[in-house]
Amino acid sequence: MSLLRLDDVSKSYGGVSAVRNFSFDVEEGEVIGLMGANGAGKTTVFSLIAGTQPVTTGQIWFAGQRIDQKPAYLISRLGIARTFQIVRPFSGLTVLDNLIIAAQHGHDRAPSRSSADARSRAILQEVGLADQANRLAGTLTLAGRKRLEIARAIATGPRLLLLDEVLAGLTATEVAAALEMIKHLRQHYQLTLVVIEHVMRALMKLCSRIVVLHHGEMLAEGAPADVVVDQRIISAYFGKRAS
Ligand SMILES: Nc1ncnc2c1ncn2[C@@H]1O[C@H](COP(=O)(O)OP(=O)(O)O)[C@@H](O)[C@H]1O
Ligand SMILES: [Mg+2]
Repeated sequence: MSLLRLDDVSKSYGGVSAVRNFSFDVEEGEVIGLMGANGAGKTTVFSLIAGTQPVTTGQIWFAGQRIDQKPAYLISRLGIARTFQIVRPFSGLTVLDNLIIAAQHGHDRAPSRSSADARSRAILQEVGLADQANRLAGTLTLAGRKRLEIARAIATGPRLLLLDEVLAGLTATEVAAALEMIKHLRQHYQLTLVVIEHVMRALMKLCSRIVVLHHGEMLAEGAPADVVVDQRIISAYFGKRAS
């Protein structure tokens, strides 16, 4: 049984068809890359899985349970966490308090404030934010806020983590460091990952399988090396070739 299954899922926002008849499976332990041009529907797929948007039609299953009718907080408790493309920390709280709140909610809820505190400090160490623990979240650099976004998701104790462009806007050095961090977190917490990313080289390093969305539909799916040489994908990204 797959950990996650999307079965013929569609989503319309009024007249805009953001996701169309999209089906795919994620096995436990996999790292899937989700690619596609801006507006292809990638973030919408995450919102449907995490329950922050309702599906228009179709079904979503996680660990044997149908989840597309469930509210976001229950989906979080079942073990799905996501990050937001536009980071959403509680800016007026400290970095540590952002994590403590997450650790008290979600899948693996800390039974007490002190255990939430201990777990949060351990995660801050792993993501390289330990020395920023008492800083207000809103004052972090972009790279810091992206790390906090991942750390908060981890603090909920997920089985499945959805990362939405966590490398976007980072320098090459920051991207390399963030990739190492993601690999470490994946191994340490035995996570299954779906990663939306435009940095192709990063996806190649991280993912075992890549799914390409184009105008809300599945355009291609396969091993990273096969997907990147597929002409349809090159056209979807760069338009028709001039030859
Ligand atoms: N909350 C929303 N309300 C209306 N339209 C939306 C909303 N979110 C996304 N869309 C539209 O759905 C399409 C897919 O968007 P999105 O999932 O954000 O794409 P991507 O993440 O691949 O860039 C776009 O046409 C976008 O304008
Ligand atoms: Mg997006």
